[in-house]
Amino acid sequence: MAGVRGYREDLAFVHDAGFRDYALNAASGLLRVLRANGVREGLIVDLGYGSGHWAAELNRSGYDVVGIDHSPSMLDLARRVAPASKFRIGSFWSAKLPACDAVTSIGECLNYCFGVSNSRVALRSLFGRVYRALRAGGVFVFDFAEPDRLPMQMPRRSWFEGRDWAILVSVSGDRKRNLLRREIVCFRKAGKLFRRSVEIHTLRLYQTRDLLRELTRAGFKARAIGGYGHLRFPEGIAGIVAVKD
Ligand SMILES: C[S@@+](CC[C@H](N)C(=O)[O-])C[C@H]1O[C@@H](n2cnc3c(N)ncnc32)[C@H](O)[C@@H]1O
Repeated sequence: MAGVRGYREDLAFVHDAGFRDYALNAASGLLRVLRANGVREGLIVDLGYGSGHWAAELNRSGYDVVGIDHSPSMLDLARRVAPASKFRIGSFWSAKLPACDAVTSIGECLNYCFGVSNSRVALRSLFGRVYRALRAGGVFVFDFAEPDRLPMQMPRRSWFEGRDWAILVSVSGDRKRNLLRREIVCFRKAGKLFRRSVEIHTLRLYQTRDLLRELTRAGFKARAIGGYGHLRFPEGIAGIVAVKD
């Protein structure tokens, strides 16, 4: 069933409380990419909208937004953060994409394997659907995780904390199959106690050259980028700007 596989209530809260800066810091560079490619107004479709901060920035800059994300908990947050956007629950692997001026996907959303066999074939089909949804000259901008996202030594354990939450993250993976596995133990304050939950996320990692090839095949003119404006991608993250010819 859509919506039950990842970013349930507590991890969605933690994503918003502790990790919203990625979307916020990306926003000015992303807006520049849109404008530089002639997308100064119109409808932007955001795949994996999360807690909606990028959508809110788009609304503030005069764009309309339709977002697609499969997490109902993200939907609750996003509706509060960006009330002017239209958010849908669903998987971007199958959801109908409306005719639009640009498509964005921020924060390695296209790597996740929630309930689908994420594969190059699945991406090929998604790229074709994005191409058909875009107007001529429309832009597709996204970032994604590459094989370098796998740590040298596995598992790599790290932790992050806020005032009323903490997460313990263990990253491991399979280099031969280009799979990354993140086990996230989440603690969130509930009354006087902390509630514990666990999510396991699997990501399929892609090489930039393979995605550029698939985008070219779909009809795009595509190029790799090293970041969104002043936000440079961390190691193992890459980005692409693809324009519909
Ligand atoms: C790391 S978060 C990024 C969220 C947001 N774009 C940001 O930058 O803060 C990944 C998001 O992708 C969503 N997601 C992953 N796979 C998805 C799919 N197949 N369909 C819809 N949403 C998906 C998750 O629910 C989550 O909200």
